[in-house]
Amino acid sequence: MLGIAAALLLLSSSALGATYRRSDNIVGADFYTKFSFQAIPDPTHGRVNYVDQATAKAKNLTFASHNSFVLRADDTTVISDSSSVGRNSVRIQSNKAYTTHVAVFDIAHMPQGCGTWPALWELGPNWPAGGEVDIIEGVNDQGTNQVTLHTSPGCTMPITRTETGTSLSLDCNTAVNFNSGCGVKLTPATSYGPAFNRNGGGWYALERTNSGISVWFWSRNALNVPLDVRTGLSTVDTRLWGTPSATFPSTSCNISKFFAANNIVINLTFCGDWAGSVYSSSGCPSTCTSYVDQNPRAFAGAYFQFNSINIYE
Ligand SMILES: *[C@@H]1O[C@H](CO)[C@@H](O)[C@H](O)[C@H]1NC(C)=O
Ligand SMILES: *[C@@H]1O[C@H](CO)[C@@H](O)[C@H](O)[C@H]1NC(C)=O
Ligand SMILES: *[C@@H]1O[C@H](CO)[C@@H](O)[C@H](O)[C@H]1NC(C)=O
Repeated sequence: MLGIAAALLLLSSSALGATYRRSDNIVGADFYTKFSFQAIPDPTHGRVNYVDQATAKAKNLTFASHNSFVLRADDTTVISDSSSVGRNSVRIQSNKAYTTHVAVFDIAHMPQGCGTWPALWELGPNWPAGGEVDIIEGVNDQGTNQVTLHTSPGCTMPITRTETGTSLSLDCNTAVNFNSGCGVKLTPATSYGPAFNRNGGGWYALERTNSGISVWFWSRNALNVPLDVRTGLSTVDTRLWGTPSATFPSTSCNISKFFAANNIVINLTFCGDWAGSVYSSSGCPSTCTSYVDQNPRAFAGAYFQFNSINIYE
């Protein structure tokens, strides 16, 4: 039973789009039922072999406990078969798709190492028509995290925005700038790779409304982690979260037009179009493909460990 005050609160909050109720709490083995494993070729030409769920479990490439889920690449096999497409790894996609929502990712560890190209993102149907939001992405342990939108033509971003990160290209159109999208480079070193992991990881959160898309990052030991994020409350209020790390307002990009319902995708590839092309300039040894093939133990840190994913709508 909803009191009048509570009903009014709900009405006003949904209009403001700032407080949300949890609709999904994904922890441990929930990843097996709420995500599908996609044993597909990597469209970005990575040195990777994405396996199905049975293979991932059998080879311990995914592992669920009561409070965590690990998704890793193989770190024991030397690849000497020249017909191999690459190192075994995992790509999963949420069974549900979301329009306006908040997603909070509590992450203890992200993949690191030369040649790695991990991604945590949201993807719509019929790319690029349904839109793409890259929440965590980077290669070869280089630099800080990059948050990027990729869309069909007609979605651009203003130069001046209320965000702590640094805007890169302003046109989100996949057909220009070699599909670099409209990205924002985060400021803290702890937002990505080995520095993220040394700090025990942290939280990434995304809010999508019809007036914009924003992403926040808080390191594990940061003093400004909002209480609702830190303790995984069943409601969140994004008005209390402070300036986002990256924000993409709808001023010159109609969000509901350029973004359909999006699925969450988590994948880990090696080399390929991005990690491979900047491999040497990242200070990595040998060539990317031979390094990935010959040095399984170099990929002991190539794993995601999630404490939880919470979805609020
Ligand atoms: C992995 O993620 C990136 C997004 O960062 C994407 O471009 C790439 O195509 C993905 N690989 C697969 C197999 O989907
Ligand atoms: C599987 O991986 C998990 C997480 O890394 C680890 O704790 C566990 O010991 C592994 N199991 C086996 C049989 O190697
Ligand atoms: C944005 O796109 C939606 C869906 O295509 C449309 O209904 C709406 O009128 C558009 N809004 C503006 C301000 O153009």
